[in-house]
Amino acid sequence: MSYITDLPYSEGYCPEQSPLSLAFVAWLNGVRGPDLSGAFTYCDLGCGQGTSLNAFAAALPEARFIGIDLSEAHIASARATATAAKLENVEYRCADLAELDLDTLPELQIVAAHGLYSWVPESCRSGVRRLIRARLCEGGLAYISTNAMPGWGPLMPLRDLMLSASSEGQGSAERASRGVALLKELREAGAALFKASRAAYNMVDQLLESDLSYVAHEFFNPSWKAFYFPEIVSELETCGLHFIGSQPLHMNEFSLTVPTQFHALFAASESRVESEVHRDFVRGETFRQDVFIKGAAASASVEDLASWRFGTTTRRSDLTKKKTFRHCEVELSSPVFAPLAGALSLGSGTPKELEELAPVLAEVPSEDRLDALLLLVFAGRAMPFARSSRVHRAPSGFQRCTMPLEYNRQQLARSLWTRPQVLLSSPVAGTGIELPFLDALVIEGLCQVGVSGFVEWAKATLAEKERGPKLLERGALEQLLAAFLAERLWPLVALELLSVS
Ligand SMILES: C[S@@+](CC[C@H](N)C(=O)[O-])C[C@H]1O[C@@H](n2cnc3c(N)ncnc32)[C@H](O)[C@@H]1O
Repeated sequence: MSYITDLPYSEGYCPEQSPLSLAFVAWLNGVRGPDLSGAFTYCDLGCGQGTSLNAFAAALPEARFIGIDLSEAHIASARATATAAKLENVEYRCADLAELDLDTLPELQIVAAHGLYSWVPESCRSGVRRLIRARLCEGGLAYISTNAMPGWGPLMPLRDLMLSASSEGQGSAERASRGVALLKELREAGAALFKASRAAYNMVDQLLESDLSYVAHEFFNPSWKAFYFPEIVSELETCGLHFIGSQPLHMNEFSLTVPTQFHALFAASESRVESEVHRDFVRGETFRQDVFIKGAAASASVEDLASWRFGTTTRRSDLTKKKTFRHCEVELSSPVFAPLAGALSLGSGTPKELEELAPVLAEVPSEDRLDALLLLVFAGRAMPFARSSRVHRAPSGFQRCTMPLEYNRQQLARSLWTRPQVLLSSPVAGTGIELPFLDALVIEGLCQVGVSGFVEWAKATLAEKERGPKLLERGALEQLLAAFLAERLWPLVALELLSVS
């Protein structure tokens, strides 16, 4: 067995592997990625249950998506979601990457492997490199996430101990459960390792909060490797890949990712690889999400930003709130942020189109506008969008909502009562969007019974599902509906998540 198959991996959405976001990593680092404005092909290696891939396929109907995974259960689940959502631009293949017949794959513009490379044997890793060498086009992008050193240094003994506490025959869920229980017991009894390493101490808390499927897939695979960054760079150079940057997007702005006392060290750094190594030490990084380009990279200029579109999925009132990164806090309060946030709350578009939405922006020096826009992107308040759009407020007499995409209707039905967030897909944003439960609840109500019936419907449904006692208090549902109609509905219509009638 090269990878555990007796316990499905939990469904999880990875926004960092979204095509537009990956291409933007390239731009941030002065590199021109592949043209994603029309048809392109994206292949997800070790795609799991296809959660991310199905969301991308629903958002970008002109592109083609291929998911490959060893697990029959994962592929069956991914296909079931795609079929129910009537997605015609995504296909799933059950195959071992170590032995994949590459002739069956088309030329690819993007290859992604999230949660795969560190957890599989060398035969699979070399299969990934073979695929990239043979099928990723020149100028194509690869996204590869890995467990990182030195962050894993003090944590590796925890894995060894958990493995030794059970044998393979016991099944992955049972092994994970025993392993976590043992770590907890040792920590509570005052074992020295947990006193010496804060990271090891905290890891036990993290494991206690995680579901067993995550613990099993993270710790109990027979192959497991944490890489020092230069190792991963030289290993991937053998298939023609060159490192360009990392995800999440703010990781491409060093000043946001290390405390100020280290800024001089980074300024003196002789190469990007050296900076990355230093940063991994400074941050004690355990996980990296890196982006590479195949072959010689064409350079991108600041002017190229003019053809990018930006939008937001954040409420207007939250757009300029202070942002806390791991090592710094950033105020989004200088005078440029208010009109920029105003423009983003009116629609999505190129920097020029945003300027038209808030003409006062034209009075701000262009570098300040650019810095502010990028800071909103790094803060996760704005992001690259596929299309321009306008938020229109329709007349107040509307009654019902519908969800134009079958994918979104299916997602709402399967996730509303079972998950803290509902993953939807926006053709305007060109990617998946996770909505919190309360937004999803109002959407479900507006689709089922409309505005006038919402409060009664929500009361009955919440009581039946034994959910949300606070919401059932007098007035809370009326307030929830009013706030949604005032602030949330029309931006969601502009994102084509909803339409009204
Ligand atoms: C940790 S999961 C990540 C799944 C998905 N990328 C995600 O982020 O949710 C790793 C996936 O890689 C798949 N996998 C492991 N070895 C593989 C191999 N040799 N060939 C194809 N898929 C493999 C597993 O079945 C599993 O679905």
